[in-house]
Amino acid sequence: MSRALTVSRAAQLVGVPRAVLQRMIRAGELAQSDGLIDIDALLQAFPDARLEDSGMLEKAVRIREESFGRRVRDFVLPSPELLSQRLFAQSQELAELRRHLQAYHALVAATIECLATRPAPPDLADEARRRLEQGLARVLGSESDNRLEAMTDMLKVVSANVVIRPSGREFLVQGNDSILQAGLKAGLGLNYGCAGGNCGLCKGRLVSGQTRQILHTDYHLSAAERAQGYLLLCAHTAVSDLVIETLEAGSPTDIPEQELVARVRALQRLGPNTMLLHLQAPRSSRLRFLAGQGATLALANRGGDLQATWPIASCPCDDRNLHFHVARDPGSALAERLFAGAVTVGDTLGVHGPRGDFVLGVDVPPRAAFLACDTGFGPVKSLIEHAMAAEAVEHFSLYWLATRPDGHYLDNQCQAWTDAFDEFDYHPALDDDAARGASRVAKRALDDGDPAASRYFIAGPHAFVDAAARGLLDAGAPAHSVRALAC
Ligand code: FES
Repeated sequence: MSRALTVSRAAQLVGVPRAVLQRMIRAGELAQSDGLIDIDALLQAFPDARLEDSGMLEKAVRIREESFGRRVRDFVLPSPELLSQRLFAQSQELAELRRHLQAYHALVAATIECLATRPAPPDLADEARRRLEQGLARVLGSESDNRLEAMTDMLKVVSANVVIRPSGREFLVQGNDSILQAGLKAGLGLNYGCAGGNCGLCKGRLVSGQTRQILHTDYHLSAAERAQGYLLLCAHTAVSDLVIETLEAGSPTDIPEQELVARVRALQRLGPNTMLLHLQAPRSSRLRFLAGQGATLALANRGGDLQATWPIASCPCDDRNLHFHVARDPGSALAERLFAGAVTVGDTLGVHGPRGDFVLGVDVPPRAAFLACDTGFGPVKSLIEHAMAAEAVEHFSLYWLATRPDGHYLDNQCQAWTDAFDEFDYHPALDDDAARGASRVAKRALDDGDPAASRYFIAGPHAFVDAAARGLLDAGAPAHSVRALAC
């Protein structure tokens, strides 16, 4: 018996990013039908995949943990109630499959017997019987198939696959995550507002599958909406694999302007001239943004509001915790206050945003090259974390130029990505002249990959951004492949 898997499930099973399977599908190396991958085809492409190789699953978990640090380290088993619901759903499916299998088996056996006892053209009867017997032997004797199917069934108990329509994007719901949380962690731009069951913005229509409500909601769906299968994605988790109709943000214009008050959770010196500002939004009011965007922060002051617009350095998959890499800048009164210690943990800041269009976009090419200078690493970090979460990029390279020796203030983070992801490479560089250094890193980025299959994201001071963009474009990189943010 042969079964088909979604791309997410197949990637989870053989322990590779989804982007790798998608590249193989595009290259014709892996067959896909109706969006599904046949287990036989998967086994042909990954003949070494075995149930006993539990390292596959561990590797996937380790990659996720190491790439995001502590913030989304919540790979936990689902609650006992959810597990028992999933086991029940699995046992129902298993019983149904058994019933079908027995019926088919009986049919094949009867056909073989009939061919052996009834008169028929000898060649045709022999050929038909031989094929049926070979088919039966393959089904009953396919050890690795059975093992992969056992692994698939086990994964179905600990996680559920969700396919979003009309985009066709898919993700896995793990642990006790709501459908919304799981989608955001997977890098989707799902519509939402409060994430707490109050606003109704995360409404989606359940096309197929079973869900379970995990959050009390104040927002009331009408009887007509409920009858059509509408539910709040922030308040439900998946019991079985799901298909859901809902809208996603594809570009910055799809996200409304928001305003909230966040509390300073931490202030940490990352270097002599670099400060990590960590803000935490209230549970019921978070900032929805796309990776690479920024926000305007305002500090109430006796002389009026001090304001600054800075890129967000964290991933939208963790929308409550907003990180900013703030450079010491005599021209910014707010930055000066931070470095002077006039803002402390527990203080509140107004947050307006999101700002800017320095985003990954939906038509991501196979390779993404990130060119950053000094704190230009902040928005690039957000993009990289998002790309890793979405598994949307096959290969990504980071070229980080520092204009002072202590400028690679999160070097360990970059090394951890290099260790965890085969598809990521990191090239630190040092030059006290940002424009000169930009030309060097642009040349290196061009030499390392085919410009026609690459997209370049440049962030940093004006001198760096201008020189790097010029270097890329002069060398023939297509204009649409270069995105830049001066910050
Ligand atoms: S995000 Fe507000 S109700 Fe779900």
